[in-house]
Amino acid sequence: MPYEVKDINLAEQGLRNLEWAEIQMGALLKVRERFAKEQPLKGYRIGMALHVTKETAILVRTLIAGGAEVAIASCNPLSTQDDAAAALASEDVRVYAYKGETREDYYRFIEEVIRFKPHVTIDDGCDLISEIHTKYPELIQDIICGCEETTTGVIRLRAMEQDGALKYPVIAVNDCQTKHLMDNYYGTGQSSLDGVLRASNVLISGNILVVAGYGNCGKGVALRGKGFGANVIVTEVDAFRALQAKMDGFRVMPMAEAAVEGDIFITVTGDLHAISMDHIRTMKDGAILANSGHFDNEVDVRGLEKAASAKRAIRPLFDEYVVDGKRVFLCGEGRLVNLACAEGHPSTVMSLSFCDQALGVEYGIAHRDELEPKVYQLPPEIDQHVAELQLEAMDIRIDELTEEQKKYLSSWQEGT
Ligand SMILES: NC(=O)c1ccc[n+]([C@@H]2O[C@H](COP(=O)([O-])OP(=O)(O)OC[C@H]3O[C@@H](n4cnc5c(N)ncnc54)[C@H](O)[C@@H]3O)[C@@H](O)[C@H]2O)c1
Repeated sequence: MPYEVKDINLAEQGLRNLEWAEIQMGALLKVRERFAKEQPLKGYRIGMALHVTKETAILVRTLIAGGAEVAIASCNPLSTQDDAAAALASEDVRVYAYKGETREDYYRFIEEVIRFKPHVTIDDGCDLISEIHTKYPELIQDIICGCEETTTGVIRLRAMEQDGALKYPVIAVNDCQTKHLMDNYYGTGQSSLDGVLRASNVLISGNILVVAGYGNCGKGVALRGKGFGANVIVTEVDAFRALQAKMDGFRVMPMAEAAVEGDIFITVTGDLHAISMDHIRTMKDGAILANSGHFDNEVDVRGLEKAASAKRAIRPLFDEYVVDGKRVFLCGEGRLVNLACAEGHPSTVMSLSFCDQALGVEYGIAHRDELEPKVYQLPPEIDQHVAELQLEAMDIRIDELTEEQKKYLSSWQEGT
């Protein structure tokens, strides 16, 4: 079986890490058990561009248990866990990924996945779908559907749909409640700080943490920053979200003001240059910059590269730049800090996201005749089912509506 990984000898360590991930991914294992019995994906080829981590490896095993053949590349040059990639290769999966890929290899690996002629695509950030649409449109006739993991990817797909450019149905797994709650909120909250800590080992407590963006991810990062004892400032462009941040107890101000005050900055906006060179020039000596949004353009890293009079690596994935005689430190080259500098989300978080992915693939295949080239949400029953699976995995039981309550909640006659 073809594969390209950093070192196949890392497989033994990778398999141990996969075992540890599985212990925390009870909900996904339940889906895998059912898939193994029912074989809903039998005969289908699934092409993936996802962060190649131990948790993604458990998703790959789940899809294979359901009868699929899988090829996988990464969706970020810095996020691959080389031992997990080697573990997948040792299980005869077509895996093309290593940590620190060149841009050339990144796209070559996505091409390998495309050459596998997938019937279903799974993306995180829409690069696979975008490459297929722009360079290999002849393959689209055999593609049944796609699934997209993240906010930025869904935004790109909705833009494609609006332009009439989207040529096959895609399920916005990102938009599931179970994905948002666990992944964007709790997952990004914890793991972004984990990334900054592993890169810098800075004491968060007592520092001013500036969080750019108060969406699902930003809320999680701000909450966890506060938990660590940081004085948190939020920057926003949306009035409602800014109000919510204020009501949640955070200081809110424009980045131009926050830049002067902040010690540590984390961007989670999905937007270009939430931190610009103008902002960076006004920062304190020693400010730490990190991004946890999908692309590496939320901090103007290119501007920083140009403007800096000196640059050196202080330690792996923690670079010092000197700008106007002051030092700023950049974590993980400005790429997703939780994946570049740490291990991404904890396995429990990814268990839910990947239940949504696996059930999204099953749904797309089962409803292939009804779906049009549009962006779809997974039906709420499936989202609820994933929440139930996780409650079951945590051995938590909840109440059920009585017949009387069901009737009451669906009637309009009962008043004061
Ligand atoms: N690190 C991870 O593991 C991870 C996980 C999930 C999502 N993401 C990515 O994180 C990003 C944010 O995701 P989300 O789900 O929170 O999105 P979201 O749309 O819910 O929130 C983004 C927020 O940023 C605000 N914003 C936009 N431009 C801004 C600017 N210039 N300055 C300040 N605020 C600005 C928006 O108003 C919005 O409230 C996306 O790129 C998403 O793909 C990363």
